Amino acid sequence: MLLHFLALAASLFQAQGYFSEEKYPEESKMQPPTVVVAIIARNAAHSLPYYLGALERLNYPKDRISVWAATDHNLDNTTAILKEWLTVTQKFYHYVEWRPMEQPTSYAGELGPKHWPNSRYEYVMKLKQAALNFAKKRWADYILYADTDNILTNPDTINLLIAENKSVIAPMLDSPGAYSNYWCGITPQGYYRRTAEYFPTRHRHRLGCFPVPMVHSTMLLDLRKEGMKNLAFYPPHEDYSWPYDDIIVFAFSCRAAEIQMYLCNKERYGYLNVPAKPHHTLEDDRLNFVHVHLESIIDGPPMYPSRFVHMFPKQRDLMGFDEIYLINLRRRPDRRDRMLFSLNELEIDVKVVDAVDGNALNSSDIKILGVDLLPGYYDPFSGRTLTKGEVGCFLSHYYIWKEMVDEQMDKALVFEDDVRFQSNFKRRVIRLMEEVEQVELDWDLIYFGRKQVNPANEEAVESVRNLVVADYSYWTLSYAISLQGAQKLLNAEPLSKMLPVDEFLPIMYDKHPNDDYKSHFLNRNLQAFSTRPLLVQPCHYAGEPKWVSDTETSTLWDDDSVRTDWRGSHKTLKGSPPSEMLSAAYRDEL
Ligand SMILES: *[C@@H]1O[C@H](CO)[C@@H](O)[C@H](O)[C@H]1NC(C)=O
Ligand SMILES: *[C@@H]1O[C@H](CO)[C@@H](O)[C@H](O)[C@H]1NC(C)=O
Ligand SMILES: *[C@@H]1O[C@H](CO)[C@@H](O)[C@H](O)[C@H]1NC(C)=O
Repeated sequence: MLLHFLALAASLFQAQGYFSEEKYPEESKMQPPTVVVAIIARNAAHSLPYYLGALERLNYPKDRISVWAATDHNLDNTTAILKEWLTVTQKFYHYVEWRPMEQPTSYAGELGPKHWPNSRYEYVMKLKQAALNFAKKRWADYILYADTDNILTNPDTINLLIAENKSVIAPMLDSPGAYSNYWCGITPQGYYRRTAEYFPTRHRHRLGCFPVPMVHSTMLLDLRKEGMKNLAFYPPHEDYSWPYDDIIVFAFSCRAAEIQMYLCNKERYGYLNVPAKPHHTLEDDRLNFVHVHLESIIDGPPMYPSRFVHMFPKQRDLMGFDEIYLINLRRRPDRRDRMLFSLNELEIDVKVVDAVDGNALNSSDIKILGVDLLPGYYDPFSGRTLTKGEVGCFLSHYYIWKEMVDEQMDKALVFEDDVRFQSNFKRRVIRLMEEVEQVELDWDLIYFGRKQVNPANEEAVESVRNLVVADYSYWTLSYAISLQGAQKLLNAEPLSKMLPVDEFLPIMYDKHPNDDYKSHFLNRNLQAFSTRPLLVQPCHYAGEPKWVSDTETSTLWDDDSVRTDWRGSHKTLKGSPPSEMLSAAYRDEL
């Protein structure tokens, strides 16, 4: 060793010719600040795999992170999941403090696992304080609190928050509705106050890091700042008279210590679950989380489970239908994969049918299939006639109706492949179909997703909740269809007088505004209904930042040389999310 060193030194002398004090011109780099991540988990088995998956994907050196993890009062498998994860991952972290408590499984005075009696608030405050004490004792630079249904899908979250150099800072988390982890206003009594800034912030119409009176659920505290000495989660400040609630107690503590809370919305950092109501069950909570998860796949960045936590396969079923069809064009495997993934998460079984690819049909094939245009049909938006894409789409639906009739299926459900599901989709469908059955409604078709042309007055169906008689509609995103309905559609012999399938259906229930078109179909007695609110929407609307135009092109049905959009009509692309969709998560009537 010594010889080796001497040889190295000699060679350096030779190279430089003299002994230089500036041999290492650059100082060694600073290590990143140390962070404690506080995990306080209760009944979180549904979200923990994703929560832990996001933690393990954070771009922050794990040897600069200590994990402080507590869990208690569980009815579910939270303790085992956390333990399984920590057993594997603890070696990567600087230090792990593990505080499980198996008993009891509920708080005194608790009405259910989602109810918060004062004893629960108090216990949570004490846990947060214990994590803070731990972090201070170990001279940590920062402590990150993140509730176990807050999924930090942006791997740079810690770095981005640290860069803001604030005492208390939260990343704005997204949910499928208006809910997030901050308030812009607080009443003199310490309650939430509505303000003009909330929505522009939530929708990222104004971007930045803003002083706010409340952040909660996920936040980073800079423990090096002097004011931190005066902050506490527990006990509440001696002047405290506001509601006994951990987040309000802490916001008050910040106020008393003259520490400003900040909220950042410059980026998308992750998601949080919509809060459960006191009467909710763990299953309600889980279903809300499934919804957040599915939305994350569409809006991104998506959540992924931890590699170190075991996940059980889902039990899927048909929700009482004889078959559930997903129409997918082979050349759109991205859509198929997303739909299959979503339906699996919803525990719904589905049969993928390859859509008839209109582009692969030439005009002579189309004639051989017996397809002919409805005389005088023109697309109301572009003025052109049918496209091959529209022919393919029609045939795809038509073959499903035919299969239903051939196999005498009572009822089936049809999905196109680019839909976004309303929260609690499966429960809503099951409940709706049960009610429809109970009152023996005579139905042929029930839209689950469509575009209402005249959203005004659709007549509600008495005795079935959330169901209306369908008026003129566009789109065939999803619908239930009965055997009788399929038979009526086939009996109309629509191939020989084709128009787009979403125009054909309103003709068949006699709500199409064009009398010429209607005159070609005699029995327009389809019993068509629609759910209200709708249970599915298109993934993206034209004009939205995330909307990607279907760049596929098509040609006119009878002329292979005239190119047009694949879908053709703009009516299938334009629109905006109806307000009912945005607010439905809130006044969730389930
Ligand atoms: C609980 O979680 C552990 C660890 O993931 C797993 O091995 C076990 O099978 C789970 N038990 C139940 C009942 O889900
Ligand atoms: C961060 O803020 C502190 C005041 O809290 C200030 O002294 C310090 O210079 C700031 N650091 C940076 C890098 O801006
Ligand atoms: C149309 O395609 C079929 C094969 O699908 C082919 O046999 C036929 O010759 C084509 N016709 C024309 C006019 O290109």
